[in-house]
Amino acid sequence: MTIRQLKTYFFTNAIRNHFGSRPSRRHQLQLSIWLTNGNQQAMPIVASISKEISQPHLLIKGTSCLSGQVEISGAKNSALVLMTAGLLTDERIKLGNVPDLTDVTGMANILTSMGVKLQRDSDSLEIQANEISHVELPYELVHGLRASFFCIGPLLARLGKAKIPLPGGCRIGARPVVEHIKGLTSLGALVNVSHGEVTASITGTRKKLQGADVILDCPSVGATETILMASVLAEGKTTIENAAQEPEVQDLAKMLNLMGAKVHGAGGPKITIEGVEHLKGCEYSVIPDRIEAGTFLIAAAITGSSIKVSPVIPEHLSAVLQKLRDCGCDIEIINNSVKITPGEIRGVDITTQPFPGFPTDLQAPFMALLSTARGTSVVTEKIYENRMQHVSELQRMGAAIRVQSNTAIIEGVAELSAAPVTGGDLRSTAAMVLASLAARGTSKVEGLHHLDRGYSALEAKLNNLGAQILRIGSQDNY
Ligand code: UD1
Repeated sequence: MTIRQLKTYFFTNAIRNHFGSRPSRRHQLQLSIWLTNGNQQAMPIVASISKEISQPHLLIKGTSCLSGQVEISGAKNSALVLMTAGLLTDERIKLGNVPDLTDVTGMANILTSMGVKLQRDSDSLEIQANEISHVELPYELVHGLRASFFCIGPLLARLGKAKIPLPGGCRIGARPVVEHIKGLTSLGALVNVSHGEVTASITGTRKKLQGADVILDCPSVGATETILMASVLAEGKTTIENAAQEPEVQDLAKMLNLMGAKVHGAGGPKITIEGVEHLKGCEYSVIPDRIEAGTFLIAAAITGSSIKVSPVIPEHLSAVLQKLRDCGCDIEIINNSVKITPGEIRGVDITTQPFPGFPTDLQAPFMALLSTARGTSVVTEKIYENRMQHVSELQRMGAAIRVQSNTAIIEGVAELSAAPVTGGDLRSTAAMVLASLAARGTSKVEGLHHLDRGYSALEAKLNNLGAQILRIGSQDNY
C-alpha cells in the first residue's frame, strides 16, 4: 500500500465508523482535498471520533499555511434587506450575487409564506410580490432571524398594515426595535406592541404614510433601513437624522433609487427621501460582504500567510485594513482586491464603532488574531453589551485574556493549543475557526448553525487556500 492509499483507508474507515455508513460525497471530496495536501501529516482524528454523533462540527488541523485567492460572496446584511425591499413593488426584482446562506433561505421562506413568488438560480434570486396574501408573519419562521423585522416597513408602505413577532434579543445583546417603532410612528403609523407582536397600521381616512423628520437616538442600521423603506412611498418628504452610514444602507438606497425612489444622502448622517407614487422592478447586484472579506484577511494574518481577497470594495474595509497594517501586515489594494502579506503580528487596541469605525462583527475574529500577537492589546466593544462570549473559548485554547465589563485585555501568547470549542453566535464561531487554524493540534469547532447563517462555504473556501478542515455531521450547504 502506498502512503496515500493508507491515508485513504484510514480516513474512510474513521468516517464510516463515525456514521455507520459510507462517507457522504462531500466528505469524500473534503477527504481528497485533504489527502492531496502534499506531504502534510494526516490529521489524527480517529481518536477523537466517537460512535455517537455529537453536534455537527468542524475538525480543523492547525498551523497550515494558506495561499492563493479567495472569492468573496455577496453581503448577508445587504441581501436580507434588499429581499424585503422587493415587497415595495408588484414588479419583478432580480437580485444578483445573493450568498448561499441559511439566513437567506430563512428570509425566502418568510416571503414565500406571504404569497411572494421567488425563484433562485445559482446566485441570482427573482422576487415578485404582485400578490401579498398575508401581512402577518408566523413566529416559527421569524424566530432566530432578526432581519425578518425588515418586512414591517415595506408592508406598511405598500399595504398599510403589518403584524410581525418581535425579533427578540439574542446572545450578543438585547437588540431593541424602539427606534424602528418611533420612526414608523412619526410617519403616521399606529403601532402597538403586545403579546410579543408588533401590529402596525395606517389609520383614519389616510391610505399612505406621511413624510416626517425623524431623529434617531442612535445610528441603528436596522431602524435606518426600516424607516427608509417605509418612507419611499409616503406622501411628502422625510428626513432621517443620525442615520446609520453602513455600506448596506447605501446599497439599499441605491436599489430603491433604481426602482424609482428619490433617496439622497445615504452613506452620510442625514438622509432625505421624497416620497413617490409607485416603485418599479429592477435588476441589482448585492455588494461584496465586507465582514466575510475581513474574516479571510484575519485568517491570513493569524496563519502568517499571504493571500488575495476579491471582490471587495476597499473603502468598506478601511478601518479593518488600517488595524491590520498597525498589526504589522502589508496591505496592497489592487482595484477590487486586497492582497495581505503579514509580518510579525503586534498587539493593537480596537474599539468597535458604527461605520466607518471598526465593525463590531469583526471584533471576535480580530480578538483571535490578537491572542497570538506580540504584546498587549485592548479591545473595547461599544455596540453590543454582551459580545465577549468568545473570550472563555479562546482561553480554553490557551489565550491570555482578562475581561472587565466590555473591555478585553489580551496578552499575546506564542501559540494557541487545539481544543474542542463552541461558538455562541455567528461571529464568535468564525473566531473559533480562525483560532483553530493557528492552534497546534486538531480542534473541534461546534456552533455550525451559527456559522452557516453568515458564511457561504467557509471551510471549502479555506480548504482551497490550503487549510485542513473536515465537516462532520451536518447537511451539505455547498
Ligand atoms: C445590523 C447588522 C449586524 C451588525 C449591526 C451593527 C443586519 C441584518 N445586521 O444589526 O450584523 O452587528 O447592524 O453594525 O444588518 N439599538 C437601540 N435601539 C434600537 C435599535 C438599536 O438601542 O431601536 C442599539 C442596539 O441595541 C445596538 C446598536 O443600537 O446596541 C446597534 O444596533 P443596530 O445598528 O440596530 O443593529 P442591527 O440593525 O440589529
